[in-house]
Amino acid sequence: MVTISGVKLNKKTGIISIRWKLVSTYLLLVTILLVFINVFISKTITNMYIEEKKADMLAKTNIIANNIKYYVNSEANSTIYETMKNEVTKYSKKINSRIIVIDSNNKVKVDSSKEFIGETFNHEEVEKALKGNNVATTYNHKEYGHLMYSSVPIILNSKIVGAVLISKSIDNIYSRVKNIRKALYLVSFISAIFIAIVSFILADIFSKPIKKFTNAIMNMAKGNLNQRIDIKTKDEFRQLASAFNIMSTKLDQVDIQRKDFVANVSHELRTPLSSIKLLSESLLHQENADIEIYREFLTDIDSEIDRLNNIIDDLLILVDLDKEKLNLNYKVTYLNFLLEKIITRLKPLADEKNISLNYDPRDKIQIKLDSDKIQQAIINIIHNAIKYTPEGGNVGVKLYSDSNNVIVEVSDDGIGIPSKDLEHIFERFYRVDKARSRGTGGTGLGLSIAHQIITLHQGKIDIKSAIDEGTIFYIKLPLDTNME
Ligand SMILES: Nc1ncnc2c1ncn2[C@@H]1O[C@H](COP(=O)(O)OP(=O)(O)OP(=O)(O)O)[C@@H](O)[C@H]1O
Ligand SMILES: [Mg+2]
Repeated sequence: MVTISGVKLNKKTGIISIRWKLVSTYLLLVTILLVFINVFISKTITNMYIEEKKADMLAKTNIIANNIKYYVNSEANSTIYETMKNEVTKYSKKINSRIIVIDSNNKVKVDSSKEFIGETFNHEEVEKALKGNNVATTYNHKEYGHLMYSSVPIILNSKIVGAVLISKSIDNIYSRVKNIRKALYLVSFISAIFIAIVSFILADIFSKPIKKFTNAIMNMAKGNLNQRIDIKTKDEFRQLASAFNIMSTKLDQVDIQRKDFVANVSHELRTPLSSIKLLSESLLHQENADIEIYREFLTDIDSEIDRLNNIIDDLLILVDLDKEKLNLNYKVTYLNFLLEKIITRLKPLADEKNISLNYDPRDKIQIKLDSDKIQQAIINIIHNAIKYTPEGGNVGVKLYSDSNNVIVEVSDDGIGIPSKDLEHIFERFYRVDKARSRGTGGTGLGLSIAHQIITLHQGKIDIKSAIDEGTIFYIKLPLDTNME
């Protein structure tokens, strides 16, 4: 059992393995199917035998009826009657069945079992036969078991002169079917066992990927986020595994970024703090120091505190952006005015370095955006252009639109960004030349903030850059935003 953040991950309790679920489901289905098949086969075979028997019995009954048609109306003590009786008795023995001959008045003339002779015989089959029908039916008597009655009319000169009834036990059919059913059950039982074994093995194969997932997830829960699952089968598990691998890689990256971020923040905060500590300590150890020295050191301390404040401000902006993802304050904004305002604000900075800051609005554009945040993003980018362009350089800002986007283009003829750094430029604390950036006072958060703001507006930033020639940033914002 593993315990993570107070959550107990018990591997075994209460778990019915998917293997057993599969096996029992297969078995249940197969058993139901086999029972159905067995019942169906037994019924069909029974019916087949019975139909065959009916045809056979009717044929035999017709033979008797035909053989005795001239004798049936003879007197009980005449020779003709005896001939008929002998004929019937002989045939009854031959076919091992009881034969009863009835005249047209329902009187029993001959009964091979001698039981009903002379009696009126109101039997359903006989009634039907006397009306001209050939009938064969089966009965299940408690006492005599399964019986078949077959009855046909005796026809002489197109007149019905009586009927013959044959009754025969058909228990042998049922016992034959019973034997077949037994054999079927045995075969079914063996197939069920075979299916159980095969499904158990298959279920084991099918459930293997699940074990892999469980292990990988348990490892992730223990903090090893970089888990990969390799599944060779071409099925949904493979898709799931590749989705899982993407997720774990992403989580791992986020985790690494988070750790880097914390390390960077600590490092960035420590640098100005160490300077402040050093400056204040050396002041404390200087006895009778000149007021000018105090002033100089305090000015340095002050600028380090400013630096600290800037870093913390930027960090707070990032935290806010993370928090307020869906809380942007969208308003219809005239971008031309917004850019004019930004240029006016940054002009003194450009003038300080004798950089010409040129603004060229090609279109008049109004879109919905959070103007405070967009202003911050654009300022960060133009500020960089001024910062990373040597004295006397040029920075240009253009505003135009294409079919889908509004584009704010910020170009400079400054130091440029090496292509290997371009993909990292939006990462927090990322600076191309750390030593030089320190000189220019950067912390590497400006572009990261700008990128986050533009992404929240469903836009994007493209960059083109060549070393020592300059850089162009394209800030693209969608024209048809669905933002409310
Ligand atoms: N226009 C540019 N020309 C050349 N390099 C640039 C330009 N813009 C950004 N960079 C490079 O990208 C890095 C990251 O920029 P970013 O704005 O995030 O950080 P920064 O300017 O160093 O610090 P700050 O957080 O104060 O803005 C910079 O350090 C710089 O190396
Ligand atoms: Mg910057």
